[in-house]
Amino acid sequence: MTNTAPVSARRDLSEAPLLAAARGDVPARIPVWFMRQAGRSLPEYRRVREGVPMLQACLTPDLACEITLQPVRRYGVDAAILFSDIVVPLSAAGVDLDIVPGTGPVVACPVRTAADVAALPTLAPDRVEPVAQAVRLLVRELGDTPLIGFAGAPFTLASYLVEGGPSRHHERTKALMHADPKTWHALLDHLADLTLAFLRMQVAAGVDAVQLFDSWAGALSERDYREFVLPHSAKVLGGLAGTGVPRIHFGVGTGELLVAMREAGADVVGVDWRVPLDEAARRLRAAAPDGPVPVVQGNLDPALLLADWPVVEREVRRIVAEGRAAGGHVFNLGHGVLPETDPDMLARVTELVHDLAPGE
Ligand code: CP3
Repeated sequence: MTNTAPVSARRDLSEAPLLAAARGDVPARIPVWFMRQAGRSLPEYRRVREGVPMLQACLTPDLACEITLQPVRRYGVDAAILFSDIVVPLSAAGVDLDIVPGTGPVVACPVRTAADVAALPTLAPDRVEPVAQAVRLLVRELGDTPLIGFAGAPFTLASYLVEGGPSRHHERTKALMHADPKTWHALLDHLADLTLAFLRMQVAAGVDAVQLFDSWAGALSERDYREFVLPHSAKVLGGLAGTGVPRIHFGVGTGELLVAMREAGADVVGVDWRVPLDEAARRLRAAAPDGPVPVVQGNLDPALLLADWPVVEREVRRIVAEGRAAGGHVFNLGHGVLPETDPDMLARVTELVHDLAPGE
């Protein structure tokens, strides 16, 4: 398909619940969306993905658009999240990698030396033009539902590049950061530039909010996070400050890092299920008593969606109550939807959250 659309002006969705909550205002209803809401838990997703490799799907605008819309149609969630993957900009830039079903991103030549870092490609904008096209298609299709763009944060991307694939302990990554800090910082600086360019492209194409996924940052101590990671994530989030687009910053197991992750430049802090939202907000408020009201996103344990409805209902009500005590709240899971999840459960969760009143 040829793209004749002009660069889209962002829609005025300031009253959309997600964007009101992100500003710290009381929204018309509690916004809810689910990380990994598009994907293998949906039969309509499996149908359209049949025979299409993941990276190819991400770079086919019509298909990425359709997959992004599927959960919005099915659940009536308050945001769409662009169907893509955190390694798409690396692949588009020319890093030899694949997304292996059931495993995740696998990198052909791991990046471990100063020479490897110096050889990393930069991101030419035309290489990610299909992603920009998908965003432009989506803002036309979505009506008044906001579109969330995203990228992987420098640390999480670095973990895939250094380890060569998914990793439990991130041992080579941690070894590199401590043994050769100069190479480490050069790597993260390169990834910050690439990530910022990718997110700026998404903002220019029309996304209404962005989420920076630092999924594996919780593997670090706060001390190491502040020294080796925060400045680079701050370069990304700070580079978007002037756009007016809210920035969500998420990681798994980051209870000890919430304050630092907010300081990196987040408007909304993602919280997994390990820390209650009121406690997360207490930590954020204590660190910045004169700052804006903390806005948190989360935090239903995705595993609980496999339990019976009464269990899920009780947990949703608890989380909404804790979210009210927090200040601003965007309802979400504590991590992505598991493939085994019954889509009807997510439909019921959405409905229940929408029935509960925001604010006190
Ligand atoms: O949230 C959404 O609905 C948008 C789509 C999305 C995908 N990946 C699609 C995907 C998003 C936001 C991501 C981000 C992503 N990718 C993260 C950060 C979020 C998180 O979960 O912490 C990470 C760490 C990755 C890397 C990655 N890509 C993993 C760990 C996997 C899963 C491997 C597997 O198959 O179990 C992928 C592949 C992937 N990304 C799939 C999807 C739908 C599955 C591939 C397929 O359907 O063939």
